[in-house]
Amino acid sequence: MNISNNTVLITGGATGIGFALAKDFIAKNNTVIICGRRAAKLDEAKKTLPQVITYPCDISDANQRRELFGFCATNYPEINVLVNNAGVQREINFLKGEAEYRDGDNEITINLEASIHLTALFVPHFLQRSHAAIVNVTSGLGIVPLRITPVYSATKAGLHSFSISLRQQLNGTPVKVFEIIPPIVDTDLDRGARDKRGQQDKGIQPEMVSKEAIKGMAKDTYEIPVGMVKVLRIGSRIAPNFFLNIINKGGNAKPV
Ligand SMILES: NC(=O)c1ccc[n+]([C@@H]2O[C@H](COP(=O)([O-])OP(=O)(O)OC[C@H]3O[C@@H](n4cnc5c(N)ncnc54)[C@H](OP(=O)(O)O)[C@@H]3O)[C@@H](O)[C@H]2O)c1
Repeated sequence: MNISNNTVLITGGATGIGFALAKDFIAKNNTVIICGRRAAKLDEAKKTLPQVITYPCDISDANQRRELFGFCATNYPEINVLVNNAGVQREINFLKGEAEYRDGDNEITINLEASIHLTALFVPHFLQRSHAAIVNVTSGLGIVPLRITPVYSATKAGLHSFSISLRQQLNGTPVKVFEIIPPIVDTDLDRGARDKRGQQDKGIQPEMVSKEAIKGMAKDTYEIPVGMVKVLRIGSRIAPNFFLNIINKGGNAKPV
């Protein structure tokens, strides 16, 4: 895919991996729109990256997702890339029952349903472009799940599966489907839970994820495992229990 002269929407683009992607896409001469719930984070992003277009939006709300599509299609009809990056991660202990499950953001709605619904909204528009892409950000935890983040891991496995089906459906159209599969990345994804449980491994920097992602997209590599996920992908097929045990041992898997 040509990674210049596109118009790109990055959900959750004000921070972390999304913001790193926004910086790299702008550096490569793309128009970039980012959205998120926190206006202060969008303002901060705009200060650092004045070219970026910001749009406050909570993608857990179906009407706001429709409005987001309407904003993009009306004001930037040339839009041709959707990056489903926004995500949340929660530790949920099912031994504590329903209250624990309900107490916080709905990971299924934000990580999975919103990405699928936004795809449904944007695909017909993208079919009118000469080239376009849907880019889904999943996780190594979609390959080997982490005990303390069971719903998060399931949403990422679901988004991986959806990416495969979608790629098959859109085969022969101008719309390519990419999946970026990061390892642990040093961002605020879990709102400080890693620090609280004393996790030493803070992961790679979001800029490294973006660099590998853009390099992969430029080469039409549709599944882009980043860093140690390359090993995890192959290793977990050969010795699934070995990798399940490694991931679920030590500081990474100790509940807060
Ligand atoms: N960090 C890691 O270790 C890691 C590893 C593998 C995959 N990933 C994936 O990478 C993606 C980006 O995460 P990150 O690590 O860069 O963490 P991050 O900095 O916390 O980024 C997540 C972004 O999503 C936005 N967001 C969350 N809920 C939203 C909602 N309802 N509506 C709109 N925006 C929403 C957040 O902004 P607001 O809170 O302001 O809405 C935030 O900007 C996620 O899909 C995550 O699952 C991360």
